[in-house]
Amino acid sequence: MRTLKLRDERHIETLLGRMTLTEKLGQLTMMAASHTVTGPVITGHSTDDIRAGRIGNLLNLIGAAAAREMQRIAVEESRLAIPLLIGLDVIHGHRTLFPVPLAEVALFDSEAWALTAREAAREAAADGINMAFAPMLDVSRDPRWGRIVEGPGESPWVGRKLAEAKVRGFQGADLAAADSVAAVAKHFCGYGAVTAGREYASVDVSERTLLEVHVPPFAAAVSCGVAAVMPAFTDLAGIPMTANAHMLRGRLRRELGFEGVLVSDYNSIAELIQHGVAADLVEAAALALRAGVDVDMVSGAYLQGLPPALERGLVSLAEIDESVRRVLALKARLGLFEDPYRRGTVAESAATVTERRRLARDIAARSIVLLTNRDDALPLAAGVRRLALIGPLADAPAEMRGPWWCAAQPDAQVSVLAGMRAALPRSQVLHASGVDIAGDDDSGIAAALEVCDGADAVVLCLGEAATMSGEAASRAHPGLPGRQRELAEAVLQRAGARAIPVIGVLFCGRPLVVPWLAQRAGALLAAWFPGCEAGHALAEILTGRTSPSGRTPVTWPRAVGQIPIYFGHRNTGRPTDPTGPFASRYIDESNEPLFPFGHGLTYGRFTLSNLRLAPERAAASATVEIRVDVANESGRRAEETVFLFARRLQSRVAPPVLELHGVGKIALDPGTRATLTLHLPVAELSSLGPDLAPALEPGVVEILVGPSAERASLLTGHLQVVAA
Ligand code: BGC
Repeated sequence: MRTLKLRDERHIETLLGRMTLTEKLGQLTMMAASHTVTGPVITGHSTDDIRAGRIGNLLNLIGAAAAREMQRIAVEESRLAIPLLIGLDVIHGHRTLFPVPLAEVALFDSEAWALTAREAAREAAADGINMAFAPMLDVSRDPRWGRIVEGPGESPWVGRKLAEAKVRGFQGADLAAADSVAAVAKHFCGYGAVTAGREYASVDVSERTLLEVHVPPFAAAVSCGVAAVMPAFTDLAGIPMTANAHMLRGRLRRELGFEGVLVSDYNSIAELIQHGVAADLVEAAALALRAGVDVDMVSGAYLQGLPPALERGLVSLAEIDESVRRVLALKARLGLFEDPYRRGTVAESAATVTERRRLARDIAARSIVLLTNRDDALPLAAGVRRLALIGPLADAPAEMRGPWWCAAQPDAQVSVLAGMRAALPRSQVLHASGVDIAGDDDSGIAAALEVCDGADAVVLCLGEAATMSGEAASRAHPGLPGRQRELAEAVLQRAGARAIPVIGVLFCGRPLVVPWLAQRAGALLAAWFPGCEAGHALAEILTGRTSPSGRTPVTWPRAVGQIPIYFGHRNTGRPTDPTGPFASRYIDESNEPLFPFGHGLTYGRFTLSNLRLAPERAAASATVEIRVDVANESGRRAEETVFLFARRLQSRVAPPVLELHGVGKIALDPGTRATLTLHLPVAELSSLGPDLAPALEPGVVEILVGPSAERASLLTGHLQVVAA
């Protein structure tokens, strides 16, 4: 973390010495403007309150002029001239939307993750924003939970890498720079494990699971100097995170060494009353402050509740001062005291914006996952004359944004229809939606079938509306909503009878449970929500100009009853026996996922061979070089992704059947081969012992390398871990 200049430290102490209690609480308060709505609307910001020092921070304010005016009021019309933190949910871009986070994770490319955060930060900062409520680092193994779309997916290793890349991207080399914003790692901790995938529900995971799965991404963010952290809405084993002193002051601050600002989630301090742990705003405010929450987002609990809490001795002035100091220190680190207007003053050039859209297209194309390609239905034949785009997502530009569209305009996104028409100017690209995304009206199916007749190929654009994933969007039936299945089955039947290939494209913020579609479509793509360049990106893939390279960062279940399903499960004492009784399996469904973690086809055909490790015996201080030969046996250039897993064969604590430790990528021309090298620092193989302390146990570790977490696809080697 950037250390404060002596001058800033003095300034902060001088300010603290001059502040009234109200002004201090103003610094600990963040109120919502109403330019975008991200929670129950409680109050608009009041400029008089900023003048009076009762509001020291804002969120949901969009536009450079508005941000500048609020900063002006704060620094020119309030008594102590303290600038504002201005925060926004810059989740996957600000005005230029990149694919939703889960889609971007499918790139498995840290540099790309950092780059999109950098671009989002530049664009948001040009609008006067100085704090992004991102990255979201909640590992989740439950596709019912709508917020799985916002985060790293199921792997804590991916969560760590994502945290590092995003913090670097948002905060840049210098947090004070005009194009840097403070990152907010959220939501600490365990939110991804809400009971039954139901939004805001209780979390009750073991201490081990917390430490193995949910904390590591936050630990990584803290190590990279993340400016702020947001506690989750949820309770953890009965203690709401907003009041969880053990987790916030203990684990996050003391153990992980986090010195930045803790910003509450939206209204979550007042919600301590609903949780049932506080009688009123006074108790709620006291609980949150004592737990270490510095900034109250919109609940007004600190402003109203802390003065009486102070009088009753529930909190001390020293605790309030400690939080104020942290908020002011962040403002100093952001360079706001030097120049409160450095962000939002210089408009971006048209060339910058065009370049950013180009990046958005590239990232979107790379995020698309080819789930199946039976009979090589993709790419479309070069001479395709007539293409039928069917389904409610084919001409739905606004939906391409996905949830958390920030400042992006609904009409600024390219639909599939527009993208395909641009890509195939000499072909006839016809369209019929058939049904709506949701709802019961199937009267358009017949007309859609007619559009399919005579087509060379049908592209079925199906899935969720943008608002069906994200916050407050849990689904008990995470399949195709409305009458889309009826549409798809009718199209599959009609086209099947005429031998017309049908390509399914899923727009979704989560894995969808669609085994029937995977089985019957000629090819199936997960396009997720691709962002502003959706149609162009998809056209690249469908036409074969770009080979798909995205890999799913979450396991796709074949039945809701399999959830939670993930590659890092433990073996059990009675592991899967597909036929026998008394095994850890379902009697009415296979244990196998629809698609394993890491799955994703390309237009190439890759084989992996000759796995070798050097050295094969190593101690904690060593790094093992793992090499594998990759050959592209197809007639097309494509990029292969190779995952590096490990499995400790024996350990004091039952080890997971696979642990991810690395990812490599290699692009190969047709008929060529090359060697891919991955590096495994042996210390990474340490695990939490029975006492939850990290330890590297000597013994044999299987090293597994391959294109996905599907066991049969992995090459295996052995590493002998020896004591130092
Ligand atoms: C969400 C946060 C978000 C905040 C501010 C809350 O409802 O849980 O992720 O940052 O709103 O918009």
